[in-house]
This record gives sequence, C-alpha cells and structure tokens, in this order.
Amino acid sequence: MNGRIAICITGLSTIFNNLTSIIHKYNDEELSNSVFFDLIQNCKSNTDIVFRNMKEASEVVNKLKQFTKDQITELPRSFKVKPLIDEIIDIIKFDWVSKDLKLNFNIDCNQDIEINSYPGAFSQVFSNLILNSVRHGMTKRYSGNISISIEVIDISKVSKMRIIYEDDGVGIDPKISDKIFTPFFTTNNKIGYGLGLSIVKDIITKQLKGTIENISKESDGVRFIILF
Ligand SMILES: Nc1ncnc2c1ncn2[C@@H]1O[C@H](COP(=O)(O)OP(=O)(O)O)[C@@H](O)[C@H]1O
Ligand SMILES: [Mg+2]
Repeated sequence: MNGRIAICITGLSTIFNNLTSIIHKYNDEELSNSVFFDLIQNCKSNTDIVFRNMKEASEVVNKLKQFTKDQITELPRSFKVKPLIDEIIDIIKFDWVSKDLKLNFNIDCNQDIEINSYPGAFSQVFSNLILNSVRHGMTKRYSGNISISIEVIDISKVSKMRIIYEDDGVGIDPKISDKIFTPFFTTNNKIGYGLGLSIVKDIITKQLKGTIENISKESDGVRFIILF
C-alpha cells in the first residue's frame, strides 16, 4: 500500500515536471513539436500508472473496510475445532495443489474439542497462516509439512486454548521478526499487501482476547504460539 502511494507520488511529480518544462519551453519559444509530443506522451503513461495504483490502493482500503465490518458483525457460536480446520484446508488447498506442492498436515487436535467463539475469525487466522507457509516458506519446493497442535490447558486455574502452529519452510529471519505483525510489512509485495499477520494478530488480541507469539528460528521453519 505505502509502495503504491509512493509510486503515485513519483508519477505525479514526473507529470508536474513535464508540464513545467512545457510551460518554460513555450515561454522561451524553445518548444519543438517532437519535445512537446515526448513530454505529453510521458505524462500520459505516468497518468496510467497513477490511475492503476490509485485503483489498487482503493481496493485494499475497501477490502479492509469489509473485513472490519465482517469482524464486527460476526456472532459467536459453538463449533468443533478439528472439523473446521479440515474444512479450511479443503477450501484453500487449490492454492498449493495448483503449484504442485505436496503439503502434509499433522493436526494434533481432539475431534471433540468444541468452543464458543467466532468461526469466521478462526478461519481467517488459519488460512492466513497456512497460505503464508505456502507462499513464503515453501516457494520452489515440492513438499512441505505443517503441524498444528491444539490443546485446552489450564493456566492459573483458567481454561485456555493453546495452538502451536509450525511449518518446515525457510523460516523467518530474526532481523525482521519484530516487524512481521506490522500492517503493510511484507518481504514480497508481488504476492501480498503485508496485511495477513497484522490481521491475524488483530483477531487474536482484539476479538479472541488472546496472544500470539512468534518463536521462529531462521532456516528452521516458523513456530507461532497462540493462546486465548
Ligand atoms: N510461514 C512463513 N515462512 C516464512 N516467512 C513468513 C511466513 N509467514 C510470514 N512470513 C514473513 O512475514 C511477512 C509478513 O506476512 P504477512 O503479514 O502475511 O504479509 P504478506 O504475506 O502479504 O507478505 C511476509 O512477507 C514474510 O516475510
Ligand atoms: Mg500473508
């Protein structure tokens, strides 16, 4: 998003410079037809760039608005955790199947664990984490592993759900680990807007009133601990 706005600023300043140059050359009677044509042509292509990037930026803003609205309007309900995770995997698996990546899931979760929570928000968390594993951790690979372990544990006499999410991809460089949850932070702006993990964190901390901790080590895959 910030990248798109920066592109627009560069494009607009190029258009501004070209127009200024046309005015000066015209006043000094130095404006040839070919220079005029080149400057105007360049203005046109920069206008296209600005237009395209503004449009994309406004799509991101709209998606965010819709997402916030969905989050606010979703009502809590009782659901079984393991079947929901299986369903999410089934819905998004085209993403890696189409890339010829064989992804193995090791899901350690009692079939009967049932919680009263927000299934839509829950799905967002898992689909973001899984798609990140595929898109960042396992590019150019033929196979990969994701482990999800879910347990209800007692912490100071309060029952909490603990989710440990791991993959065996390239992992997260410790140099960037304090930035990954920041909105618009991405190491690859061709595949994302850098919103996935900030949304995950928002859902877990604000909606589920929990915590998420990244304890990944570089070149050893990722490991997140979620508690709520
Ligand atoms: N499973 C993963 N393996 C390696 N890097 C990851 C993983 N998940 C997240 N990251 C890193 O965290 C950054 C932020 O992730 P995210 O907020 O989802 O944004 P995006 O996916 O749009 O880049 C990614 O750009 C990537 O560098
Ligand atoms: Mg992402």
